[in-house]
Amino acid sequence: MKDLIPENHIDIHSHLLFGIDDGAKTFEDTLALTSAMTDFGIKEFITTPHIIQHVWENNTAIISAKEDEVISLFQQNNISLPFKAAAEYLMDDHFVKLFQNENLLCLKDNYVLVEMSYINAPIQLYDILFDLQVAGYKPVLAHPERYLFYHKNFGEYTKLKKAGCLFQLNMLSIVGYYGESVFLTAKKLLENGMIDYVGSDVHHQKHIEAFHHKVDLKDLNPLKEVIANNQFFATLK
Ligand SMILES: [Fe+2]
Repeated sequence: MKDLIPENHIDIHSHLLFGIDDGAKTFEDTLALTSAMTDFGIKEFITTPHIIQHVWENNTAIISAKEDEVISLFQQNNISLPFKAAAEYLMDDHFVKLFQNENLLCLKDNYVLVEMSYINAPIQLYDILFDLQVAGYKPVLAHPERYLFYHKNFGEYTKLKKAGCLFQLNMLSIVGYYGESVFLTAKKLLENGMIDYVGSDVHHQKHIEAFHHKVDLKDLNPLKEVIANNQFFATLK
């Protein structure tokens, strides 16, 4: 996979702010993960800590403070790299209250990274997506291929796209990291032109190692195209 990442790639999904979710635990982790990712060709990082009520109780203040801390630690280590924080929001009632009452942390402009539980979609999913867009946001759904409950019901993906979701594929889905069924769904979404962007979703070293695995696709062009789409999020020109 790593060989398909261009030199100027912008990653829009990762868990690199240490100690605030299930990603990097220490600054050493942050450093090791970002340095490996830089070696793969990633030039800009938009890192996205989880915001999940009762699980990862993050908010804008916590994330911004940790972002400042990490950037200052990078500077102390003579590392200068474009690094900013947004968030990965779990779509639930708490999220609805958030976007109705305060500004969300966005990837860029009004593009917001959202996820669902891996067990089921929220009952009010389409209401949330509608209200989110009324509030002025563009939902980028993280790793649609990982929601197993949609695998036997591919039409749901079409419905989500029609409801305004952009799709962010996890690059490790197409090396088989999350299993065969996720791989096949990822492949089908790519072949159908339904993927908009890619993300690394790097949490830890195992993810870095998996980037050395081969992509099992005959036609790499749809993948290359969506990887190139990530340039949309560039802050440097
Ligand atoms: Fe994530």
